[in-house]
Amino acid sequence: MHADILFRGGTIVDGTGAARYRGDVAVTDDRIVAVGALPDWVAGREVACADRIVAPGFIDPHVHHDEVVLTDPDMDCMLSQGVTTIINGNCGFSIAPLSASGALPQPLGMIVDDTAPRFASYAAYRDRLRQAPPAVNTACLIGHSTLRINEMDDLGRPADKVETLAMARSLDRALSEGGIGLSTGAFYPPARASTTEELIEMARVARSHGKLYVTHMRDEGDRVIEALEETFQIGREACCGVHVSHHKCAGLANHGLSHTTLSMIDKARHSLDVGLDTTPWTASSTMLNSGRHRQATRVIVADSTAHPEMAGRDLADIAAEWGTDLDEAVERLLPATGIFFIMDEQDVQRIMAYDRTIICSDGIARGEHPHPRVWGTFPRVLGHYVREVGLLSLEEAIRRMTSMPADRFGLEGRGRIEAGAFADIVVFDADRIKEAATYDTPIRPSEGIETVFVNGRESWCAFKNKGARAGHIL
Ligand code: ZN
Ligand code: CU
Repeated sequence: MHADILFRGGTIVDGTGAARYRGDVAVTDDRIVAVGALPDWVAGREVACADRIVAPGFIDPHVHHDEVVLTDPDMDCMLSQGVTTIINGNCGFSIAPLSASGALPQPLGMIVDDTAPRFASYAAYRDRLRQAPPAVNTACLIGHSTLRINEMDDLGRPADKVETLAMARSLDRALSEGGIGLSTGAFYPPARASTTEELIEMARVARSHGKLYVTHMRDEGDRVIEALEETFQIGREACCGVHVSHHKCAGLANHGLSHTTLSMIDKARHSLDVGLDTTPWTASSTMLNSGRHRQATRVIVADSTAHPEMAGRDLADIAAEWGTDLDEAVERLLPATGIFFIMDEQDVQRIMAYDRTIICSDGIARGEHPHPRVWGTFPRVLGHYVREVGLLSLEEAIRRMTSMPADRFGLEGRGRIEAGAFADIVVFDADRIKEAATYDTPIRPSEGIETVFVNGRESWCAFKNKGARAGHIL
């Protein structure tokens, strides 16, 4: 039998959670055609995989690379950690459909540059990606806040009937054109005034397409319990599956609360489809004026348009230097993004270990000093939390990076090493895999990731991008 490529003699972790086994993987064109002991197969190219793990390429279900896939399509930050598929459009903010002109409100302005071309329909964005594909497969949620920005002249109030209908129509069209679900972000100013009823109306549209309601909840701190209850209510009333993004319990006063939130999710699952994802870090990252600096033990400025020279420095040091309080320093730095130390390590581990939790980076690849999660999330889980802490088995951790997100978001043919699946494959050294990105030096490719294939094309090898740009639009 003949294949294009044979991955020879690796240890296969197939993404389903099944125990690892020794075997070969045969790839022809963009598909895996055979898996197992394949001594009789020959191929134009063999990749020696002895003592290496051969796994499905990782799927990052929560990123903000909506525009980055157009402006920096080589996607080093994702390929270098073994990620072959990403889902954009999270937290209520998607690059499309965007008909509003002029300056964009934050945090949409962090994701979409004011001067970049706008896509009035999801189809226009999708077609643009098809013409010039990025290095990883991409799918996109449709953001409720983006719809609000399109349809409302005043974001500081609930949508009226006419506006709600216009948003519902626009969402319906975008989902027909290939959007893979709905995202909301009532935490952020553009949607803070939305009522639960408005969110239910949006969720009904998602439901009519068999898609999920994916949410950056209204609150992840002092009112995280109420926010979870609101999420469940929306799911129940719209009969729609719900997915809690980057679940966390933010702020010192709320440390330990994941005991309660996870048992609430457990209970809700009896009558509702509930899922969640999380990042393996105790610091979060978002716009600097999110109010989070008041809950954080430390804040690093990731990026500031007004004072670019402050990127990478502590907010407290900047305030001391300027002789201001933190609030005033934040004001002077805007528009800006920050890294906020607001979570408890025990909560992070408890949430990650929970059986429904998917791994995500929540990456915003902005400026010189982003959160290290942009470059280091997946190797951090496999190095620190699997090998060093023993929080999850390697097989289970990989399941939460592959078949689980693929099944959750309906990404067919992805997330498994099996005959017939797309040939998204990562080969890595389980003894060496480790993130190199830190809070001090956040832009660094990870260690231990050796070769990454996307749709059967070699895309990353030995710390080098191969320029394949083989991603599909999902
Ligand atoms: Zn978010
Ligand atoms: Cu996000």
